[in-house]
Amino acid sequence: MTNDDAISQHVAFYNPEGCQNEAEVESKFIVQYLMPNLGYSADSWHQEVTFGRIRLDFLAIAGQIVGRSMKQSAPHQVVIEAKHPRENLDHHVRKLRHYLQNLSIRYGVLTNGKLLRIYEYVDNRLVLKLEMPGREIPDRLDELRAIVGKKAIGIQLIPADSPSQSEQPEPDQIQSMQTQSLSIQQETPHMKIFAVYHNKGGVGKTTTVINLAAAFSKMGKRVLIIDLDSQANTTFAAGLVKFQDESSDDIRGSYIYHVLIEKNRFPIAEVARVADFTHPIVHVIPSHISLTEKEAELVGMDAVLIRLITKLKVVKDKYDIVLLDTPPSLNIFARIALITADYLLIPSDLRPFANEGLNNVRTFIDNINDFREAMTREPLQVLGVIPSKISTSARFVQYTLPKMEKIVEERYGFQLLNTRIYERRAVSACLERVIEVGEMDIPDPRSVLDVEPNSQSAGEFEALAEEILKLVN
Ligand SMILES: Nc1ncnc2c1ncn2[C@@H]1O[C@H](COP(=O)(O)OP(=O)(O)O)[C@@H](O)[C@H]1O
Ligand SMILES: [Mg+2]
Repeated sequence: MTNDDAISQHVAFYNPEGCQNEAEVESKFIVQYLMPNLGYSADSWHQEVTFGRIRLDFLAIAGQIVGRSMKQSAPHQVVIEAKHPRENLDHHVRKLRHYLQNLSIRYGVLTNGKLLRIYEYVDNRLVLKLEMPGREIPDRLDELRAIVGKKAIGIQLIPADSPSQSEQPEPDQIQSMQTQSLSIQQETPHMKIFAVYHNKGGVGKTTTVINLAAAFSKMGKRVLIIDLDSQANTTFAAGLVKFQDESSDDIRGSYIYHVLIEKNRFPIAEVARVADFTHPIVHVIPSHISLTEKEAELVGMDAVLIRLITKLKVVKDKYDIVLLDTPPSLNIFARIALITADYLLIPSDLRPFANEGLNNVRTFIDNINDFREAMTREPLQVLGVIPSKISTSARFVQYTLPKMEKIVEERYGFQLLNTRIYERRAVSACLERVIEVGEMDIPDPRSVLDVEPNSQSAGEFEALAEEILKLVN
């Protein structure tokens, strides 16, 4: 069979507009259909490629660089970015430009299945080369191949002796850029586990977990959220509860309870779900309201306390960051979170009750550290209190807040993080989004970084994520 035969085999009957979500755009459309039809075999493209803080969905490469100089920027590579079918591609153009510019790559493909666009980065500008609806792709593959097909991309390589015609980086510079990003990754090889905990409810734990996960993910980190609260607010806020009644409940049969109770079954990789409240996606081990009933069964089973530690070890190379959301209590699930975590973050609205609750938190940490010492685990590192859900009232910010912050440090002996998360409608509204399907409202939450990337709140969560990384590195 010739190469062309192999290609024509892939052409038949496919409609990228049938993709339901980002995972399908990636797997069914790009991996199974587009790559082979553009002539890229499995060894000539890579998924989830990280260069420092840039994370590409796909990078396709047309063979080796044969010359020392290039007419344009890296002509032998194509970036392919997959989006959820509901996403407006316009919102992702700026990012694509940033990728192509920073990595000196000439062509970028942006697609949500419904629409596909090819952009060219040339003369410091991003130019739209081609746009076509998903349903037309099978009939118009030649047009795609002519620009970003493996052959077309390969032809643009310039022989070794031709003179350099531009000031774009040379191949060896690109090589060193790649090596540099690799070494950045090697400096921080360890998965870091954070518990987000306060024994008072309503202080912003879940909101912090969701938006921090989004911020870390956008920084190129691979993120896993584990919901240890039987209220399952995080599971809900991550967009995993799409069903309307118990008969279609697809969580009850596989959630955090199973991870904890089963020694040899329900590994993290199996129970974790893809959550697309943010892009790039993150993974979530969900919780379920029935976790409340399971508590009595689990209490007294010592093995359960360290089960997450053991199961997380198996995926230590798969994630950079694990965020544990906790119940507002001192129960077994909160204990498990604080035993499992390397670091503790304590969101607090800095109101009197939340402050008084810090005494309980302190005692709880001491208690946990006794247990950790007995199992020769390092003590929990308390990163401090995150001022969260802070009222924007000028009086509060000017007079009360500084006093409250002082009390946290002096009376309760907790450090305060520098970044404050203010209470703003945008933050809660994003998590309460719904889409109408027929007569039903289906929850469709998003992080504030995805809906309003330029808002103050998005900036606060980004700053918080950066501050946290600085503290732990
Ligand atoms: N920064 C914020 N701005 C606006 N609303 C917030 C903010 N943080 C939390 N909320 C809202 O406050 C309520 C409690 O927050 P949540 O994160 O669920 O707290 P917890 O997990 O500690 O119980 C939710 O309705 C949430 O939408
Ligand atoms: Mg919560």
